[in-house]
Amino acid sequence: MGRILIADDHDSLRRGLAQALADAGHDVDEAANGNQAIELLHEGFFDVIVSDLRMGGSTGLDVLKTARALHPRTAVILMTAFGSVSTAVEAMRSGAFDYVQKPFEIEEMEVKIAKALELRRMQHQIDYLRHAGGDIHDFDHIIGSSGALGSVLGIVRKVARSNTTVLVRGETGTGKELIAGAIHHNSTRASRSFVKVNCAALQENLLESELFGHEKGAFTGADKQRIGRFEQADGGTLFLDEVGDMSPSTQAKILRVLQEQEFERLGGTRTIKVDVRMLAATNRDLAAMVRAGTFREDLYYRLNVVAIEMPPLRERKDDIQPLAAFFIKRFSGELKKRIDGMEPDAARMLMRYNWPGNIRELENAIERAMLLADGHLITPADLRLGDTAPVSSGGDGASLVKIPPMGVPLEEIERVALVEALKMSNWVQKDAAELLHISPRVMNYKIKVLNIDFPRGRRAAPLRAGPPLAAV
Ligand SMILES: Nc1ncnc2c1ncn2[C@@H]1O[C@H](COP(=O)(O)OP(=O)(O)OP(=O)(O)O)[C@@H](O)[C@H]1O
Ligand SMILES: [Mg+2]
Repeated sequence: MGRILIADDHDSLRRGLAQALADAGHDVDEAANGNQAIELLHEGFFDVIVSDLRMGGSTGLDVLKTARALHPRTAVILMTAFGSVSTAVEAMRSGAFDYVQKPFEIEEMEVKIAKALELRRMQHQIDYLRHAGGDIHDFDHIIGSSGALGSVLGIVRKVARSNTTVLVRGETGTGKELIAGAIHHNSTRASRSFVKVNCAALQENLLESELFGHEKGAFTGADKQRIGRFEQADGGTLFLDEVGDMSPSTQAKILRVLQEQEFERLGGTRTIKVDVRMLAATNRDLAAMVRAGTFREDLYYRLNVVAIEMPPLRERKDDIQPLAAFFIKRFSGELKKRIDGMEPDAARMLMRYNWPGNIRELENAIERAMLLADGHLITPADLRLGDTAPVSSGGDGASLVKIPPMGVPLEEIERVALVEALKMSNWVQKDAAELLHISPRVMNYKIKVLNIDFPRGRRAAPLRAGPPLAAV
């Protein structure tokens, strides 16, 4: 049985048809005009749309066009007035699955719908077989040559085709959403919707209504029924972003959908069954939240069936240059500005920086640099990394150091400079030394005498015995 949308401004005909199809076991939605139908298409997926050709506002052809654009696999059957065969022919040319002339017998419509559903089943089968052949993984837009990214994509390939729940973890901007999308697009659900919900963006009640929908009158302001994201994702994938930011009540409800694949709309009593695959992402430490009692342990295990850890960019520096090249090419098109690449010094700066905002920060940095660039190459001065002003060698340095009126020990300025350089280089001493134009040995010495603390997990290199440092 399938999900069917009936669009007709003729109320009694629409209701009669909807009733008959619901009796035959289909899940039926109605739209009283073309605009409403188009709105519903933006909200969710239908196997078949039965639409009147001529309606006030948007016509059946508009509905057809929207369906072709949003859900190319949806079959559209148009109903035409008796005698308007030429429009019917035009509809078929525009990609309609079939048409029916009014008036028609319900049985005739049922046969056409059954055919459309059969075709969809066959398409699913073909998709599945093609996936099983393992040749249509399209990872073209996921850039990087590091081993770390390679292993992530290896897991994506393995889990995509199953219905397994996957938890993607990682710092901000590491590509969690991109990976969730890749899992969906390489799954057997690829032709169905990929629906995303950001759990951190909404407070409890709004989030639950977003996820599960609500009935008219469920709460003040609920002036009409609303279909939730779970229903929209039926047959497809629901991506729960920032899943660590849900209230206990919402957590309990999500757990139920994971276990039973069913829920009720807010204020509703009818239990709705869905077939949804769930993917989740978070930059929080869920295990620690479980220990602290703020995240349900049972939900954690349900979500974390397969865990994918997105490594931060500073731990896969091999990806920096390919990503930079990719973004340069992309923004050249978008900004209509020819940039061929970057100067070696600028490229080196990218390698030394520690990228707290990861790939999103790199993407923004490249876009900004391209806007600033005067020539066809990005220069070090065009890159404004981590809000630190670019070092302008040769200047008077007045903007680099601000000396307070009561004065400051030179040692203190040195310390600030060293820590800044170390942070920029992800605490790699050799790189920090290069930034400050001193030798690694001098760097090492200054770290010791100025007593600079390294963050947890990073250690200062041992002070090597060597010739006296007096000449430093
Ligand atoms: N390997 C990659 N190749 C190309 N683009 C990438 C890659 N990884 C990330 N990006 C791009 O970087 C940006 C950030 O990625 P995404 O939104 O997936 O990260 P995120 O981990 O979900 O971030 P947040 O935690 O902030 O939600 C996006 O524009 C995405 O397209
Ligand atoms: Mg994200």
